[in-house]
Amino acid sequence: MQTFSASLRDAGISAELANTLNALAIAGKDINFRLQQGSIGGVLGSAGNENVQGETQKKLDVISNDLLKEILLGCGSVRAIASEEEDSYVAGPDSGQYLVNFDPLDGSSNIDINAMVGTIFSIYPFNGGELSEQSFLQKGRDQVAAGYILYGPSTMLVLSTGNGVQMYTLDPAIGEFVLTVEQVSIDADTKEFAINMSNQRFWAEPMQQYITDLLQGSEGPRGKNFNMRWVAAMVGDVHRVLCRGGLFTYPWDNREPGKAGKLRLMYEANPMSLLIEQAGGESWTDKERILDIQPTAIHQRVPVILGSASEVKNCLKYHGIDG
Ligand code: F6P
Ligand code: MN
Repeated sequence: MQTFSASLRDAGISAELANTLNALAIAGKDINFRLQQGSIGGVLGSAGNENVQGETQKKLDVISNDLLKEILLGCGSVRAIASEEEDSYVAGPDSGQYLVNFDPLDGSSNIDINAMVGTIFSIYPFNGGELSEQSFLQKGRDQVAAGYILYGPSTMLVLSTGNGVQMYTLDPAIGEFVLTVEQVSIDADTKEFAINMSNQRFWAEPMQQYITDLLQGSEGPRGKNFNMRWVAAMVGDVHRVLCRGGLFTYPWDNREPGKAGKLRLMYEANPMSLLIEQAGGESWTDKERILDIQPTAIHQRVPVILGSASEVKNCLKYHGIDG
């Protein structure tokens, strides 16, 4: 079986990008070790402070963020990082050619209940000039690589460098990720959706109507029964969609009308959109293709509707988009 680093050598990518991806894999193995220690490692629970977005940080959010930051900025190929857990970007060596955005531990409310969490990453070229927040504000379609490390019953690294989507599984016997799925492909049709139903009354009318029609099953306009799943970690829900199709959405809602959505464009929506599109799916807000959005701030939020191509298009029709 091919190891992660060996498969990167065959991937036709630069040595610096391979070096960056290997650094991410090393950080992922370290985070995985700490997660597996759980209570024994004394790493569960709150860190007692808030991040820039006003969310309470877990100890493991902080530990994962620090590990990724240290390993990436020390690998020599990364000019700067931006993280969901940092107020601003953090600079690395001048020689670095890449910018890495990451959500160090997605789904962190799952940590203390020993459920699925993951590290999401997104890599852009550093296009030279003076480093600033502006350097990061590139469209999702300009990512040179994106993926996640999923800490579940087994630990997996899922990656796209623009040539489809590959899945690797951590083999604890050798301490390496090995290639287990060469090309991921999402079926266009599905009977499964993922949404936090408790927010139903806050959604805009088109999403209310779409979900109402799904729930009517074989007696409703869709003429078939749908199943629902919600991991409460985007990384887990997107992984399920990549494995067996489905529609995942975290829509806009009116709890805080000024907020564009819950999920972050740079750390969550863009990397997942690249993976979904590379596997044949679709990924949109309620107005536009996510990979086409011109970002205006590193911590920007967006509504997300992604997954099986035909089902995403069905949902978009309710929003007046005919694709
Ligand atoms: O990072 C935000 C996040 O944890 C996602 O991973 C997940 O999809 C979502 O929030 C869960 O939100 P809620 O707690 O509202 O179900
Ligand atoms: Mn997250």
